[in-house]
Amino acid sequence: MTVDHSHDVAEWAQSFAVLMCRLLSGCIESKGRAVLAVSGGSSPTPCLAKLSEADLDWAKVTVLPVDERWVPVSSPQSNERLIRSTLLQNRAASARFLSLYCDAPTPAEGEATIERRLQAIAPGPDFAVLGMGLDGHTASWFPGTPELERCLRTSQLCCASSATAEPAQRMTLSLHALLQAQQLVLLYAGADKHAVFDRATDAVDASAMPVRAILHQDAVPVAVLSCY
Ligand code: 6PG
Repeated sequence: MTVDHSHDVAEWAQSFAVLMCRLLSGCIESKGRAVLAVSGGSSPTPCLAKLSEADLDWAKVTVLPVDERWVPVSSPQSNERLIRSTLLQNRAASARFLSLYCDAPTPAEGEATIERRLQAIAPGPDFAVLGMGLDGHTASWFPGTPELERCLRTSQLCCASSATAEPAQRMTLSLHALLQAQQLVLLYAGADKHAVFDRATDAVDASAMPVRAILHQDAVPVAVLSCY
């Protein structure tokens, strides 16, 4: 794990964009394509907006959410809507998008459809950009929820899950999917999130703080970009 600290949002967003431009360009050069999973929430917004300006072959990049609230893209709570309005702009507008949502009534009923859809990017994303909640969740892996164990144990790429905050019904990439990546990036901003990160690195119990499943593994390099 590497940790890169910025003192202001502009520096943080620039560091993120430089890192991701290098990773995506290198992947496109070696594989002819790149698959980038990005999280919702507020933290990634300035970073994704900066990345949208990067000069790379975006037509060879497929973007997908790390997790999705089970709401239509027209909903203000949709991560797809957020990603389209922050990352899929400017040069990045030519990237492809793979949705984690379908019109099944619940994520559990839509899971097989999304799993089939994700086979297009098998074995998983090349890169994933993760946020972290104050409860130590990442993706839609929430502590104390009945689906958490399966999110961390399944060999599927996606998993129906639930959040302790609305909208509760979620679809999320699994830990298995994220561990297929070449590189994971964890973004957080604020002293409160830094205290959560410190607690997450101090112990290994992922059921209490699911972000630990990302921090305490050595299968995939993790770059932590913080701003506080
Ligand atoms: C979501 C995100 C979620 C997010 C964390 C942190 O759908 O909300 O995928 O996992 O990364 O909740 O959110 P903030 O960056 O807004 O604190």
